[in-house]
Amino acid sequence: MKIVACYSFKGGVGKTAAAVNLAYRAAQSGQRTLLIDLDPQGASSFYFRVRPEAGSKWKKQTLEQTDALMGQIRESDYSNLDLIPAQRSLRNLDILLKQTDSRETVLRRLLKKISQDYDLILLDCPPSVSRLAENIFVAADLILVPVIPTPLSERTYDQLVRFFKDKDYDRKKLLPFFSMVDARKQLHRDTALGMRQRYKRILRHAIPYSTDVERMGVHRAPLDLFARGRQANRAYLALWEEVELQLEGIG
Ligand SMILES: Nc1ncnc2c1ncn2[C@@H]1O[C@H](COP(=O)(O)OP(=O)(O)O)[C@@H](O)[C@H]1O
Ligand SMILES: [Mg+2]
Repeated sequence: MKIVACYSFKGGVGKTAAAVNLAYRAAQSGQRTLLIDLDPQGASSFYFRVRPEAGSKWKKQTLEQTDALMGQIRESDYSNLDLIPAQRSLRNLDILLKQTDSRETVLRRLLKKISQDYDLILLDCPPSVSRLAENIFVAADLILVPVIPTPLSERTYDQLVRFFKDKDYDRKKLLPFFSMVDARKQLHRDTALGMRQRYKRILRHAIPYSTDVERMGVHRAPLDLFARGRQANRAYLALWEEVELQLEGIG
């Protein structure tokens, strides 16, 4: 079982759009996939039309007992794809994580325990820099980081890399890709080029800026279901193939 996180310090960069389309793609290709919506705003749960059971909550128990977490798993409308939908109590997850003794390893240990049921666990992350983020950095085998090719997003990525260096996290896990790319913009082209020279691991395929992605909110579905042959959908499919290759390289 592999764990892939969609993460960035920044909000609104395409983490959720990637998590939803990649999770759907992985499930379609036959991988038993679990998407965990860790963002209390619940965007990926919204796209997949999955709600938490009334009264269910993330509590200390959820972090310690596999059963409590498994109880939150919901089926989606699609084969091979389950979800742990977001809920308001996720706002307290950081505090809960701070109350546990095992610091950054809680999430990894927890997820490893449900590994027999899934081939892939995808984490749709909130833009946090807290204990939760550190748990995500330890838990994930790969961390997909959407980067809009502008100077500010480049700077955010530089900061993430520096954070990994300072804290001695495994930098090989970081897998950036360009998101919301407008190829007509000279700035996007120049920034992307400069970053590719500095960071060899940036994924080759980029996600274009596309109204189709915005329309996911209208259809409440991944692109493949309403924009199959379109550029943005093809970009996510190609991106997923690249990610899969990277996953194969991990033991
Ligand atoms: N490639 C894209 N082209 C156009 N709009 C996009 C694209 N990716 C995301 N968006 C839109 O931008 C907003 C933020 O995207 P989202 O995936 O929710 O970001 P995050 O999860 O990083 O906060 C949403 O309204 C979404 O529809
Ligand atoms: Mg999001």
